[in-house]
Amino acid sequence: MRITLGVTGGVAAYKSAELVRRLQTEGHTVQVVMTRAAREFITSLTFAALSGQKVITDLFANSDGGDANLDSAIEHIAVAQRTDLLLVAPATADILAKFARGLADDFLSTLYLASTAPVIVAPAMNVNMWQHAATQENLATLRKRGVRIVEPGEGYLACGMTGPGRLAEQEEILKAVREVAQAQQDFAGETVLVTAGPTCEDLDPVRFITNRSSGKMGYAVAEAAARRGAKTILISGPTALETPEGVERVDVRTAQEMLQAVKSGFAAATIAVFAAAVADYRPAEPATSKIKRTKDELTIRLKPNPDILSTVAREKGDRVVVGFAAETDHMAENARKKLESKNADLIVANDVTAEGAGFDMETNVVTIFSRDGRDLPLPRQRKTEVAQRILDEVLRVRGVLRSKRATHRAGD
Ligand code: PMT
Repeated sequence: MRITLGVTGGVAAYKSAELVRRLQTEGHTVQVVMTRAAREFITSLTFAALSGQKVITDLFANSDGGDANLDSAIEHIAVAQRTDLLLVAPATADILAKFARGLADDFLSTLYLASTAPVIVAPAMNVNMWQHAATQENLATLRKRGVRIVEPGEGYLACGMTGPGRLAEQEEILKAVREVAQAQQDFAGETVLVTAGPTCEDLDPVRFITNRSSGKMGYAVAEAAARRGAKTILISGPTALETPEGVERVDVRTAQEMLQAVKSGFAAATIAVFAAAVADYRPAEPATSKIKRTKDELTIRLKPNPDILSTVAREKGDRVVVGFAAETDHMAENARKKLESKNADLIVANDVTAEGAGFDMETNVVTIFSRDGRDLPLPRQRKTEVAQRILDEVLRVRGVLRSKRATHRAGD
């Protein structure tokens, strides 16, 4: 999800820094919005560094002498439109009152009114403030409107008192986020097939040709698809990664094994994403016993492997097919060629020589090329986030293809 995290002014504001990390690890993109009071407790720089995005600090640029990081005067509307979940942690008595009464005198309270996304608040405050009738009435109003409250924990508070008012444990907040994510099952009913990792092509019983793919990119796509409700089949070359929750994994070693597994999974798939780095060649005659060392040069003859993506995408029917392109030069040109030559709907191109991109990295820098001519360059971000953006594009393309088919049928 694209989560907007509102941080308001309480001692617990520092805990939200760790929350940003945890949310990103779970595949979400986080846009932080800080109130003026929050900035008394923690700097926006901390959140900017962690989230990799500018932090929004005010409704109007320069109203407090600083830069509010706004792209336009109606930035609250733009942020509202790209918010899948508004999470406020810690939420002060003040912000709860503003939300409950519909006041809109800063960026966060204005965003609350402008957004139709689900809202979670995790209050943190002094025990008397928490128990005050005004706060409790505001909470009751918010609850009635469907705002989810992650109740504060009890214990020793920064103000020296003991009782309820401590920001809930991070796991509690994440549980609430997961429940919202669960409800956003936009891939329910889909069967997504994903290839990931390298293939290994044997030279002899102890040696093989392979590449540097760790599988992280493909596994991130599989995990995101499963989280968004798809039945997900992951066809994986050898990797050190754990199977994501809810994903059915089929292990293969060679390109030929991968082709067989893809062929049998493709029939039931409605979407297929080919993130694997398949060896283009394999030894023509793998030795049956270990090749002995001699003083002579050794020549190994290679023969081409089948192109798995092209083979199955020839007969793709209504499926949305996504290929990758690992490029070192002429990325756009090569990616567009691959769209055609491989009969893919989308090509996710990465320049594997760029910083923070490609093999065995936590992040990637990709441009998603589509058949309908839209090129979507994405900034460097975690592979878990890239995976979400790929799936968003899949749904967009699916919509375009469906309306084209409907127009075509109407014309018949
Ligand atoms: O696994 P990571 O460490 O996270 O790294 C991610 C990645 C760099 C492997 C990934 O982002 C990526 O670029 N995957 C595709 C790698 C690749 O083989 O690219 P290609 O341009 O050679 O192939 C184009 C497409 O055809 C790919 O979708 C590939 O899966 C597919 N292909 C290629 C060869 C072949 N014989 N069969 C195929 O299906």
